[in-house]
Amino acid sequence: MNTKNNLNKVIITGGAGFIGSNLVKKLLENGTEKILIIDDLSTGKLKNLEDFSNNKSIEIIKKRVEDIDNLNTMFEKFDFCFHLAAGVGVQYIMDNVSKALLTNIEGTHIVIEACKENNIPLLITSTSEVYGVSQDEVWTEETKSLIGPPTKLRWSYAASKLIDEFLALSEFNDKKLNPIIVRLFNIIGPNQLSEFGMVVPKFIEAALKNETIVIHGTGDQTRSFTWVGDVVNYFYLLAKNELYGEIYNIGQTEEISIKDLASLIIEKCNSSSKIIFKDHEEVYGNKFEDPMRRTPSIEKIVNATNYEPSMTIQQMIEEIIKYKKINL
Ligand SMILES: NC(=O)c1ccc[n+]([C@@H]2O[C@H](COP(=O)([O-])OP(=O)(O)OC[C@H]3O[C@@H](n4cnc5c(N)ncnc54)[C@H](O)[C@@H]3O)[C@@H](O)[C@H]2O)c1
Repeated sequence: MNTKNNLNKVIITGGAGFIGSNLVKKLLENGTEKILIIDDLSTGKLKNLEDFSNNKSIEIIKKRVEDIDNLNTMFEKFDFCFHLAAGVGVQYIMDNVSKALLTNIEGTHIVIEACKENNIPLLITSTSEVYGVSQDEVWTEETKSLIGPPTKLRWSYAASKLIDEFLALSEFNDKKLNPIIVRLFNIIGPNQLSEFGMVVPKFIEAALKNETIVIHGTGDQTRSFTWVGDVVNYFYLLAKNELYGEIYNIGQTEEISIKDLASLIIEKCNSSSKIIFKDHEEVYGNKFEDPMRRTPSIEKIVNATNYEPSMTIQQMIEEIIKYKKINL
């Protein structure tokens, strides 16, 4: 495959977060010379970047994207922008609905404008949530979205990410922007926090402390989890190869029920944790509903990049347990 964009100077919004900090590592390993991180540290942590704290290639601006007045000039002379800043996590979204919505809409809008002004290509991180509760067996990038009504506030995240996709693709249509859109499916790995409702780090932390694991709903809902190292590799390949104007699912096809996930984690941690079940309504009130299944078709991204996800769920859980034992 011919690689094109040199990715020498790169902007990462949300670069102190889970995926962002793993992307920083990937880019530095591959020769990126300058990384500008914009992060308000609302869910990200400087600790995620501590391995690079003496690295002169990295500049961090600790602000909300929406509050930066001179974004257009700040973006001058960069080669690429990875836009990851967003309110993330079921718990965080339910606690901060309007703030998260505005970041996704206003924040993304001004990032798009700054990229247009400086002719910088842009990767936008959308989500599997945009498929909603689609009943299609396999979710391809052309599958119809079936998100719930606005009274179920959990769908606000999906709706705002869909707006981001429309904003970016309409500018591409007008030949004013070169966007790449990725829809991420339950990403896991080092640097992911438990406190905003992320199921894997939450269960592993509970299991390592022999505390009760609380499953929301029946536990029969299935998810497919994807290793963050694979995700940032996909970002890198898509950006490097200038695969603009397209939407790509990034995920795994291996599914596991949340009940089986909890049992697997208890077994791998050698834990005496018990499992209990709570209704979603009890946890999040009546503004919530949860898809029973969420599995992507990844044919498009695998064909475009010639790269397949590298880890099974067992391997991912083992790696995260090792990481959490050092970083609990
Ligand atoms: N982790 C997943 O499974 C997953 C799934 C689908 C989509 N995504 C998307 O991927 C991106 C990265 O998610 P993540 O899992 O690394 O979450 P994260 O919370 O670790 O990262 C988001 C980062 O953005 C920062 N941030 C939030 N609002 C900001 C603002 N207004 N201005 C500047 N910085 C801001 C946070 O402090 C954090 O560092 C997000 O856009 C998210 O919607 C993630």
